[in-house]
Amino acid sequence: MTQTLRLDSAQPEHIRQAAQLLADGQLVAIPTETVYGLAADTGNAGAVRAVFAAKQRPIGHPLIVHLADPERMNHWATSVPETAWRLAEAFWPGPLTLLLPKHERASELITGASDRIAVRMPRHPVALDVIRTLGREVVAPSANPYGRISPTTADHVLAGLSGKIAAVLDGGACTVGLESTIVDLSGERPTVVRPGLIGPDQLASVLGRPVTAAGAANIAAPGNVKRHYQPKTPTSSIAPERLSAEVQALIRAGARVGVLWYRSAPPEGVTTALQLSQQPGDYARMFYAALHSLDQASLSHIVIETPPVDDAWAALHDRLRRACAR
Ligand code: TXA
Ligand code: MG
Repeated sequence: MTQTLRLDSAQPEHIRQAAQLLADGQLVAIPTETVYGLAADTGNAGAVRAVFAAKQRPIGHPLIVHLADPERMNHWATSVPETAWRLAEAFWPGPLTLLLPKHERASELITGASDRIAVRMPRHPVALDVIRTLGREVVAPSANPYGRISPTTADHVLAGLSGKIAAVLDGGACTVGLESTIVDLSGERPTVVRPGLIGPDQLASVLGRPVTAAGAANIAAPGNVKRHYQPKTPTSSIAPERLSAEVQALIRAGARVGVLWYRSAPPEGVTTALQLSQQPGDYARMFYAALHSLDQASLSHIVIETPPVDDAWAALHDRLRRACAR
């Protein structure tokens, strides 16, 4: 493939160029508030298929349709439950994806074997601009090779997909930094299938009824695999009180250790140490960027100080579990 273009979202001309590439059936990575998405025109089956090839993602893992107008739920779903309108009103545009009963016009390429369709209206003005300029919705999985760390900058996208996609539209660093919360509204009781910044309590308080938190339930989402979001460097998470001793033992054994910490300063002898915030939102915004940078530091081990066990950190624990799974 030809060289991947880097477009600048501050230039209206480049937004038009990104939309034109999409209209021509090309793949363009676009910024959203959560992570960069690899966009393809939903109206072009060849382009949607190319997303799987570029990411090396197995066919059958369903894709999220990104809308620029909540009304378009009517196009993609056979019926839009009242709960969906309420959540859209409260959280869109924003980091929330809704699973709805799918309309037959949603192809199997987009939904896999699922009888549901995933829809989200992103908050990033550049993403909305691109969708509106194209005049159709785009599918947009995270713009990383399958199983790897999600990208929160244009550089991360290029590090993983350069030469495999037509362009990346640079819109700066993502402000949320973790993928959207996914809530399934197609069943009896709303159920979170992927935790994110918006927690089940916030959803429940808008809906005035209980929402099942992600847990055993998240096995139900196809593509929700145990190993995911992985650095190439072996990565483990270690409780704060054991961090120092275990890192020292690794160093004594000759390891080159990088530590991601928020509370317990790592011992002398670590090769790299990055400190993240004690506040979950700020931590999440920096998390993937920190993993990308440690993964490029020629380390033999990445050690992550386990974050607090608390509902506010649920989405981070979910990503951490997958990043560390072997
Ligand atoms: O924040 C986000 O959601 C980002 C940005 C780019 O919008 N996108 C994203 O897409 O994280 P992706 O493809 O990396 O993850 C989407 C996940 C799938 O792995 C799958 O678990 C779930 O969404 N999903 C999508 N469509 C579904 C469907 N029809 N039924 C069940 N699960 C679905
Ligand atoms: Mg992904």
